[in-house]
Amino acid sequence: MAEGQFGVAGLGVMGQMVALNIERNGFPVVAYNRGAENADHMRKISAGKNVQVTQSITEMAALLQKPRKVLIMVTAGAGTDAVIAELKGVLEKGDIIIDGGNAHFPDTNRRQEELSAAGLHFIGCGISGGEKGALLGPSIMPGGDEQAYKLVEPVLTKIAAQTEDGACCTYVGAGSAGHYVKMVHNGIEYGIMQILCEAYDVMRKSLGMSSSEIQKVFAAWSESEISGFLVEISATCLAKADPDTGKALIELILDTAGQKGTGKWTAQTSLDLGVPTPTLSMAVQARILSGLKPQRIAASRVLKGPTAAAAADRDAVVKALFDAVYLGMVTSYAQGLALIQEASKEYNYGVELSEVARIWKAGCIIRSKILDPIKQAYKADAGLVNLMMDKHFSAVVNRTLPALRTVTQVAAATGVPLTCLGASLAYVDSYRSEFLPANLLQAQRDLFGAHTYKRLDREGTFHTEWEEE
Ligand code: 6PG
Repeated sequence: MAEGQFGVAGLGVMGQMVALNIERNGFPVVAYNRGAENADHMRKISAGKNVQVTQSITEMAALLQKPRKVLIMVTAGAGTDAVIAELKGVLEKGDIIIDGGNAHFPDTNRRQEELSAAGLHFIGCGISGGEKGALLGPSIMPGGDEQAYKLVEPVLTKIAAQTEDGACCTYVGAGSAGHYVKMVHNGIEYGIMQILCEAYDVMRKSLGMSSSEIQKVFAAWSESEISGFLVEISATCLAKADPDTGKALIELILDTAGQKGTGKWTAQTSLDLGVPTPTLSMAVQARILSGLKPQRIAASRVLKGPTAAAAADRDAVVKALFDAVYLGMVTSYAQGLALIQEASKEYNYGVELSEVARIWKAGCIIRSKILDPIKQAYKADAGLVNLMMDKHFSAVVNRTLPALRTVTQVAAATGVPLTCLGASLAYVDSYRSEFLPANLLQAQRDLFGAHTYKRLDREGTFHTEWEEE
């Protein structure tokens, strides 16, 4: 008899953890993986639990109650299409497929169209929280077919992280909204991670602090109003000793970082939609630069930095760094949320930003204390053009901006690159400028390409012969 209430297809670590989470919350699971290794491991860790593991997609379909609900947990891309193709062969009209991977949103649109033509419901669903989150309560960002969502809502809200503000799961919007929101979540994740790395770099290079001294700073920040998962794990990373050498492990790790695509897609879509996301985009550039290790080694011997000694007033700079990081985090959220807002208009997603902030408050990688006032800001004004224009956040920006200036000065004087904090400063300074130098830009364009320009003092479009014959 079909007793399974929820199918999980793809039993890598994330799939295994989500399957256990669903079962723990009272829903019998049918877990599917064609390959033996993952299936065997799932059998082992789910022994005695209400999980049926199968390596046959046909058997999974037979074991599930109708309408069947299957959550795909495979690496985004071709793997997702392959599982969907298999599922199409065994599912029936009215069944529901949920893609829980980090899919690129255009793929989600395409899959939704294809599956809807086949009479199947599709939910593109962002899931954040890593392995631990998947098991204990992730943040879940489902989008797409709303009617179908209603049918899976009891399961998704139950397995999600829980807060005093409700479950960290809500229907975020139509079409590919779920994966779009998750992609931007990751863009913000890239921004905040890089900002914390830059704070670390200022402390070690500009201030000459040891790893254990820096660790204490991050640990203190973990108890502050900017506390959150990424600040906490930075303290944890800095506390770890290498068992072989006894040194701080962080000092032995190669300084090049990879990426899987979501940060890059965030930068790309922000260019497509014309929404400025300098902090998020520069975080991607910082990772690319980190990858040029051999070039950097060669250049370090040719291109000279300043010879300035380490900054004198360590305590003052550490204090300023707190505010700089705070503002960097605020600009990261501000840019990401402005991007979602524009995408929601462009693609008719119908996203409610206060709800997005609410479901990011726990379970996900970018959870932080800042998200509660962010939720309140968008609750008070759903159409808020920029987070920095909210009363609470404009006060935060005004309070922290001088410190960000100090930190960038210290970093510039000591030759430490602030790829993202510098971008955040320029973002705030641009955004708060009534006048930018684009008047000269317009004149340049008009000079060499007759692109025309507009004037401040008159209506109309103008062209000037700029050069004497
Ligand atoms: C999460 C994470 C997770 C993963 C990303 C980022 O929300 O749980 O964002 O999805 O860490 O894939 O990975 P990269 O840094 O490799 O791009």
